[in-house]
Amino acid sequence: MDLALSDLLVEYELAARTNLTQAAFDYIAAGAGDELSLEESRAAWRRHRLRPRIFRGVVAPDLSTEILGTPLAMPLLVAPTAYQIVAHAEGEVETARGISAATGLMVVTTRATRVLEEIAVELRGPWWYQVYVLKDRRLTAELVRRAAALGARALMLTADTPYIGFKRRGHFAPVSFEQHLVNFSTHLTPGATFEDVTAGINQDVSISLETIAWLRDIAGLPVVVKGLLRADDAVACLDAGAAGVVVSNHGGRQLDRAIASAVALPEIVTAVEGRCPILVDGGIVSGADVFVALALGAAGAMVGRPILWGLAAAGAQGVQRVLDGYRDELDHAMGLAGVATIGDFGRDLLV
Ligand SMILES: Cc1cc2nc3c(=O)[nH]c(=O)nc-3n(C[C@H](O)[C@H](O)[C@H](O)COP(=O)(O)O)c2cc1C
Repeated sequence: MDLALSDLLVEYELAARTNLTQAAFDYIAAGAGDELSLEESRAAWRRHRLRPRIFRGVVAPDLSTEILGTPLAMPLLVAPTAYQIVAHAEGEVETARGISAATGLMVVTTRATRVLEEIAVELRGPWWYQVYVLKDRRLTAELVRRAAALGARALMLTADTPYIGFKRRGHFAPVSFEQHLVNFSTHLTPGATFEDVTAGINQDVSISLETIAWLRDIAGLPVVVKGLLRADDAVACLDAGAAGVVVSNHGGRQLDRAIASAVALPEIVTAVEGRCPILVDGGIVSGADVFVALALGAAGAMVGRPILWGLAAAGAQGVQRVLDGYRDELDHAMGLAGVATIGDFGRDLLV
């Protein structure tokens, strides 16, 4: 470890400010409304204190794990983030290079600005596909089948974004209509009007619990529901066929004043009773934050903006350094707390 991850992230965010247009920077940085959820997300992880174990003979912690049949070198996933072309000219392709170099796991967004096939080529390890169910259900089904055919190992159905949360800055991503359509155009009906296309690629506000099994059956892949903050919703998703859940308030970008994911996580862990893996994201900016998430019962954590700052500042190398930073800090904390493997995490590690 040559530098604290927090210092690296500050450096990268500053570089992103310089490298990006104001519109691009704001699109990434923004939270919804008064940005209260955004502000609180980091602080909620930092409130926890640890109870380290001694004499556990931990020589070299083993960070590897498996989630829904996907092997991971560490319990950290790269969260799906739309329109990565705003952060780097090569967009998701460059991100994929950095993730592969760090043996990480990418969740590729429906709103990618590079062609899925080009991204998949760069991903040397397993990857997952995030699903926005679009008003055009045929388009959604075709995209999901395409991702499955390209090797996606699981689907992540985003549930908290029936439409885009209002943001005072950066509400719209500075991308062209063509960039928006990069992955959709081959599926569109020839001669469709601009209005039809625009309406069809918006999110479907009417998605419901039934959407989970619909997607699972189309793709033959496990479906993880992303964007819930309540125990009753988590249990309902599992009963409806979900294979996992992601506790998330979308990085504070959807409903402002929604509770922090670190606050929501414990009640969901209790209610789920080990029936499925639980992932969590939002404001996770250090290995210690990941440690707290795992001690609270998460199977893994996801990170969004830190990866985009790395991408904007230093391309694939930046992405790799950010992921390496999380790995080094988690490794360090596990060693000092006497935690040998991911399976050894438990609530006893927290006050
Ligand atoms: C610029 C940006 C774009 C995002 N796009 C998506 C998306 O396309 N699909 C999705 O499910 N979540 C999206 N998210 C939410 C992330 O997946 C994740 O929940 C959030 O970024 C986690 O918080 P963090 O940025 O503090 O790590 C986006 C987040 C950001 C910052």
